[in-house]
Amino acid sequence: MKIIVVEDYEQLSAKAAQFVAAQVILKSHAVLGLATGSTPEGMYRRLAQLNREGTVDFSGVITFNLDEYCGLPPSHPQSYHYYMNHHLFNHVNVRPENIHIPAGDAADIAAFCREYDQAIAAAGGIDLQILGIGVNGHIGFNEPGNCLHAGTHVVDLAAETIEANSRFFASPDEVPRQAVTMGMGSIMRAKRILLLASGKSKAEAIKETVSGKVTTAVPASFLQLHRKATLILDKEAASLL
Ligand code: F6R
Repeated sequence: MKIIVVEDYEQLSAKAAQFVAAQVILKSHAVLGLATGSTPEGMYRRLAQLNREGTVDFSGVITFNLDEYCGLPPSHPQSYHYYMNHHLFNHVNVRPENIHIPAGDAADIAAFCREYDQAIAAAGGIDLQILGIGVNGHIGFNEPGNCLHAGTHVVDLAAETIEANSRFFASPDEVPRQAVTMGMGSIMRAKRILLLASGKSKAEAIKETVSGKVTTAVPASFLQLHRKATLILDKEAASLL
């Protein structure tokens, strides 16, 4: 694992954007695995700027998002479809047909999950997977538990995740209880992984990820086994290392 510690969220966002930009400059048809949540917002803002300035061209890029809530239509302001359009896709020249986001409202969700994994494989696999991390060590929505799943699947969200994400909703009751997420196999097969973490609330999960046991109780700890995983952390997230 390569660990880069920066001063604050602004520096984290700038470094992360450079990392993604470098990937797209190296390979114009790069396949990017994308995350939502508050952590990558600053990175997306900078990528949009780099695209506007002509430094990074997204016209050949293919994207696969990690996850989506079940039961929220893409037009819902808290859906990850809406988030991605709002924070990135509306501001860069990515082709709509190259964008993939799990359909949390698919009629046949099992078939959808299979097709999502097939689409990732058909695109040649993920070149660079961006990850955030939950306070409980989840990546994507692969929640701590006795077992982890390899492929895209439906998951019951952990109580900590519902509580953490309730800040985006009017009340905790409105947070969907289930989500569709890429599995650990899809994440671990990515050629490179970039995990971002900011703030004190992530410090314990980061400590377990970097120096704890590799365990299904901390899904991010599996990144210790990946050959090309980089963590960009601000000082607070790195404070227990
Ligand atoms: C989002 C995702 C989640 C988040 C994590 C951290 O697509 O997969 O694992 O990355 O919950 O969320 P924030 O960044 O809001 O703290």
